[in-house]
Amino acid sequence: PRVLVLNGPNLNLLGRRRPEIYGARTLADIEAACRARAQALGLALDFAQSNAEHELIDRIHAARETAQAIVINPAAYTHTSIAILDALETFEGPVVEVHLSNIHKREPFRHRSYVSLRADAVIAGCGAQGYELALERVAALLRG
Ligand code: DQA
Repeated sequence: PRVLVLNGPNLNLLGRRRPEIYGARTLADIEAACRARAQALGLALDFAQSNAEHELIDRIHAARETAQAIVINPAAYTHTSIAILDALETFEGPVVEVHLSNIHKREPFRHRSYVSLRADAVIAGCGAQGYELALERVAALLRG
């Protein structure tokens, strides 16, 4: 099975952007860790990042044909994007939402997630490890 790991706006700056909140690891570090974990779990991986809402939506639409599960950190679009929620609702397989930080410990505007209305699981506050935990969960859900 193939999994899409999709990252939203500003996550290209990981490692340099507010490391006290988001950690020192870069998105390339996270991609490498995801690739190793996916291989160990017998999953093929597509890994992508975009700062543009429409590109994230197009990726989700493409995943309808190419992936069996989605791991998504929608970043700030988590809290604003009904369009990304609607796109995820067109996807049939497991969806796991990841946040590096614990969004519930932060500003009130980060407490609500539109994406959580579709996500099968949510991981927040585990830092970069959250992506690996999400892949573990996806593998379990795909095994059934
Ligand atoms: C984030 C949390 C969001 O509130 C924020 O806008 C991000 C990253 C996280 O991974 O902790 O950009 O999704």
